[in-house]
Amino acid sequence: MKILVTGGTGYIGSHTAVELQNSGHEVVIVDNLSNSDNNVLNGIEKISGIRPEFEEFDLSDQAKTADFFKRHNDIEGIIHFAAHKAVGESVEKPLMYYRNNIFSLVNILQGMKDNEIENLVFSSSCTVYGQPEQLPVTENAPVQKAESPYGNTKQISEEIISDTVKSTKIKGIALRYFNPIGAHESAIIGELPIGVPNNLMPFITQTAIGKREFLRVFGDDYNTPDGTAIRDYIHVVDLAKAHVVAVERMVNDKMKKDFEVFNLGTGKGYSVLEVIKSFERSTGQKLNYQIVGRRPGDVEKVWADTQFANEELGWKAEKGIDEMTLSAWEWEKALE
Ligand code: NAD
Ligand code: WQD
Repeated sequence: MKILVTGGTGYIGSHTAVELQNSGHEVVIVDNLSNSDNNVLNGIEKISGIRPEFEEFDLSDQAKTADFFKRHNDIEGIIHFAAHKAVGESVEKPLMYYRNNIFSLVNILQGMKDNEIENLVFSSSCTVYGQPEQLPVTENAPVQKAESPYGNTKQISEEIISDTVKSTKIKGIALRYFNPIGAHESAIIGELPIGVPNNLMPFITQTAIGKREFLRVFGDDYNTPDGTAIRDYIHVVDLAKAHVVAVERMVNDKMKKDFEVFNLGTGKGYSVLEVIKSFERSTGQKLNYQIVGRRPGDVEKVWADTQFANEELGWKAEKGIDEMTLSAWEWEKALE
C-alpha cells in the first residue's frame, strides 16, 4: 500500500515510516521541516533499507496541498502527524496553532475528498481527557475542556473528522497517545527537541549528559504514592506499530464505525520519581534533580485502559519502562 505520512521526518512519524516500510508498505513523506531535519530521511533509509519519497511543503497551504494530492491520487491511506505540539507555546501563539493544526487537517480532508482517498489515521492525545474522574481512562470517558490551544486543536480536529465521515466516503481513526518516549533500538532516529525540552524524558537525558544542570521535578504534593505526578509512558516503537495496524484495519475494511477512537498506552502508570529510578537503573547514570513547585496545567495522574485497542486492533504495547529509558539514553549519546 502507498501511505502518506505527514510529519514523517518528526519524532513519531519517522519511527512509523520505518515500521510501515518494514511491513512492506510504500511511504511518501510530506513535512515542512519546521520541527525536524531532512537528515532523518537518511536514518529511515539506513534502518529499513529504503529511502521514502519526500516532499517539503507546508500542509496549511491549500494550493500546495491540493497540487500534491492531484499528483498522488494513488495514495491509499494517510497517517497525519504534522502539527505543532508545544503546549506552552500554544498559549502564547494560539493563532499560529489553530492555523497550522486546523488548516492542515482541513486541506488534507479536502484533498482526500477530491481525489477519493478514504483512509485517515489522526494523531490525537490523551490530553483530551484532562484529569479523568475514573482510572484507567477508557475511550468513552468525557472529553474535557482543553487546558491549552494545542489541546483544543486535538479536540476540534477529532470533531472535524467525525463530521466529515458523515457526508463523505472518508473514514477516520483517531489514536489518542499517552506519553510517547524512547527511540529506535538502532539509536539512528529519535526525538530531536529544539531548544530547552518541555517533556520529561528528553530533559532527563540532556541533564544526564551534561547539557542541563538538573531536572526540576514539578510537584511532590500530588495525591499519588510518592507525591509526584503519574503518566502512562509508551515506547515510540510500540506506538509506531499501532499505526501500521490502524491503517491496515482501514484499508482492509475491518472498521466497525466510520470514525473510531483508540487509546495508545501501556495501561501502566509511572510517577516522575519512578521514571527517574528506571533511568538510573537501566543506564547506570545518576541523575541530578530537585523537587520544585507544580507546573501549571499539569494533571495529577492519568493512564490508559488499553482493553479496546488490545482487543479491537490486536495490538499491545510490549516494551517496558526500562527499555524506554535506556533507548532514550542511547539516542542522547548518539546525538553527541
Ligand atoms: P514532531 O514535531 O517531532 O513531528 C511533527 C512533524 O510535523 C515535524 O517534523 C514538523 O516539521 C512537521 N510539521 C508541523 N507542521 C507542519 C505543516 N504545517 N506542514 C508540514 N509539516 C509540518 O512531533 P511528534 O512528537 O512526532 O508528534 C506527532 C504528532 O503526534 C503531532 O500531531 C502531535 O501533536 C501528536 N502527539 C504527540 C505526542 C508527544 O508527546 N510527542 C503526544 C500526543 C500526540
Ligand atoms: C510528564 C511528567 C510533568 C518535565 C505533554 C502534553 C500532552 C502530550 C504529551 C502531546 C509530568 C513532569 C516534566 C520536567 C517534570 N503531548 N515533568 N519535569 O505534560 O504529561 O504531556 O506531552 O499531545 O499533550 O501536555 O508530558 O513529558 O511534559 O511531563 O517533573 O522538566 O513529568 O510535570 O508530570 P505531559 P511531559
